[in-house]
Amino acid sequence: MTEQNISNLSHEDRVFEPPADLAANANVKAEVYEQAAANRVKFWGEQADRLSWGTPFTDVLDWSNPPFAKWYVGGTLNAAYNCVDRHVEAGSGDKVALHFVGEPDDDTRDITYAELQDLVSQAANALIDLGVQTGDRIAIYMPMIPEAVIAMLACARLGAPHTVVFGGFSADALSSRILDCEAKVVITADGGYRRGAPSALKPAVDEALQKCPDVTGVLVVRRTGQDVEWTEGRDVWWHDVVDSASKDHTPEMFDSEHPLYVMYTSGTTGSPKGILHTTGGYLVQSTYTFWGVFDYKPEDVYWCTADVGWVTGHSYIVYGPLANGATQVLYEGTPDTPHKGRWWEIIEKYKVTLFYTAPTAIRTFMKWGEQIPAEHDLSSLRILGSVGESINPEAYVWYRENIGGGRTPIVDTWWQTETGAHMISPLPGVTKGKPGSAMTAIPGIAAEVVDDAGKPVEHGEGGYLVITEPWPSMLRTIWGDDDRYKDTYWSRWPGFYFAGDGARKDDDGAIWLLGRVDDVMNVSGHRLSTTEIESALVSHPKVAEAAVVGATDETTGQAVVAFVILRESAGDGGEEIVAELRSHVAKEIGAIAKPRQIMIVPELPKTRSGKIMRRLLRDVAENREVGDATTLADSGIMDKITAGMKTAKDED
Ligand code: PRX
Repeated sequence: MTEQNISNLSHEDRVFEPPADLAANANVKAEVYEQAAANRVKFWGEQADRLSWGTPFTDVLDWSNPPFAKWYVGGTLNAAYNCVDRHVEAGSGDKVALHFVGEPDDDTRDITYAELQDLVSQAANALIDLGVQTGDRIAIYMPMIPEAVIAMLACARLGAPHTVVFGGFSADALSSRILDCEAKVVITADGGYRRGAPSALKPAVDEALQKCPDVTGVLVVRRTGQDVEWTEGRDVWWHDVVDSASKDHTPEMFDSEHPLYVMYTSGTTGSPKGILHTTGGYLVQSTYTFWGVFDYKPEDVYWCTADVGWVTGHSYIVYGPLANGATQVLYEGTPDTPHKGRWWEIIEKYKVTLFYTAPTAIRTFMKWGEQIPAEHDLSSLRILGSVGESINPEAYVWYRENIGGGRTPIVDTWWQTETGAHMISPLPGVTKGKPGSAMTAIPGIAAEVVDDAGKPVEHGEGGYLVITEPWPSMLRTIWGDDDRYKDTYWSRWPGFYFAGDGARKDDDGAIWLLGRVDDVMNVSGHRLSTTEIESALVSHPKVAEAAVVGATDETTGQAVVAFVILRESAGDGGEEIVAELRSHVAKEIGAIAKPRQIMIVPELPKTRSGKIMRRLLRDVAENREVGDATTLADSGIMDKITAGMKTAKDED
């Protein structure tokens, strides 16, 4: 497809009906919306039957102390038992749970549910030997290898909440998360393979733990064979303690509200928020949505390209698919190693039927050209999913045509770390697809678009996205900070959960997401806080002040653009100043937070009350004519900024 064709499609108004055979055999049919809306609590009570409970719950929902919900009150269950053991007991022990594909060629490993049960039990026994008890927090900092999934399930099996930190985050980001949730043990690897080479992880753990004296054990998987530093008495090799551990472990049943995990995500302040998910409600909704939104059938082969370090990896690699007993691909590496057709080769080899990825990846493949997927047989695919940001219509159509062969519905799933599972999405056998719209709330979920006063907007109007009723996989709080939980999500319109996203209802009432309305950026489907990157920049000795904005980017959706005022003592900062600041941000937060562009400026535009006017900076970053600057304290400032900019752009 030429550039010209791609841009012509930006005014896409085609609507794609569900394929007839898929609609006829769909897991969820149209009438379910009404049934669920008639009695949401009853609906979610019924969905709980998808799980095996130790003790049945007495009430589906306790919402007597909002915004603190309790779901499946009095019920007990074990998440790992639900994801693994019960499938073996039901006779599916020989079914493949994971088709692991390592980045190096021919490095593959199939793990059946029976093997997974042994491995998870062994890992749980090894953690017990390391002193882990129910309730202890465990940090996981790993590449995309089976042991990452096994580690998460072993924690769940013991009722020891995990906090998985994305392997691309820095030592500082890791230590701040370990300290915030007071993790006792870290599970990591020497490294993983990325872009054809080993990429180390253990050195970052060693550095992080200098600040975390309370961590008593580090369990290390040998993946790459790189040399690692070793702290005797603290560090143990996975192959030494897990491989020799007993395969017998009886899972204990925990209260439905027992913490399952804490996942840190960026908010509008400098410090990430630890989003707490508990067991019963989270597992019910991730299990139901995997089954309903992907129309999962036992013979499907599923593949989600997310990393387990993000919530998508939690809900739609680990908990949702495994609780359904699904077979899935787990891929360690990058899409272009050793060649740009790697993903399509994997789909062809494993006959993947359900595929879930992010718009930024699709746009990258569009740039590489449709001849690359065309070299592979992708006819096994029957449903495609998208997550992380709105999928722009041209990417949607390209995805459907070139990956889905023009046959496959696309489910554009809107949800968040906080919501735990899908909330707004088409259902592939029911909802027609409008490229660019996440369509409507799934059965059992009540979403609305409201105006400033909290009133629902009319069809055809825009406003703020809210969730008006509690849902099973909702966050329960921010770890250790109930007040921040209330303030951040529930204070703007009492009784409504405020998601932080703008949205529009079209003439049919379908929802179109318009991006964040707070100081949170979305870069390649990952959340980054402007304030967090600003704090990282001002911690550099040469920086006096910094302002960060998310500017539109063709591939990554948004890109980080920073405006920096240097300290007088730093002079002009020297030749290398921009490179120096970019690596400083990578060191403080991680490579994903590196600004695409840093502009050294003499001043920043501020209102009379001292608030930085990011809107104007965004205009500069996006090369637009600078907008209305009348509220600026010094109205000439934008001219000074654009005149005195020293800028550098770097694409790595
Ligand atoms: O702005 C929305 C965007 O991603 C945010 C949530 O980010 P995070 O918690 O990191 O979770 C990402 C994976 C679920 C949302 O507030 N977002 C996510 N999915 C979509 C989306 N925006 C539009 N359409 C989507 N399908």
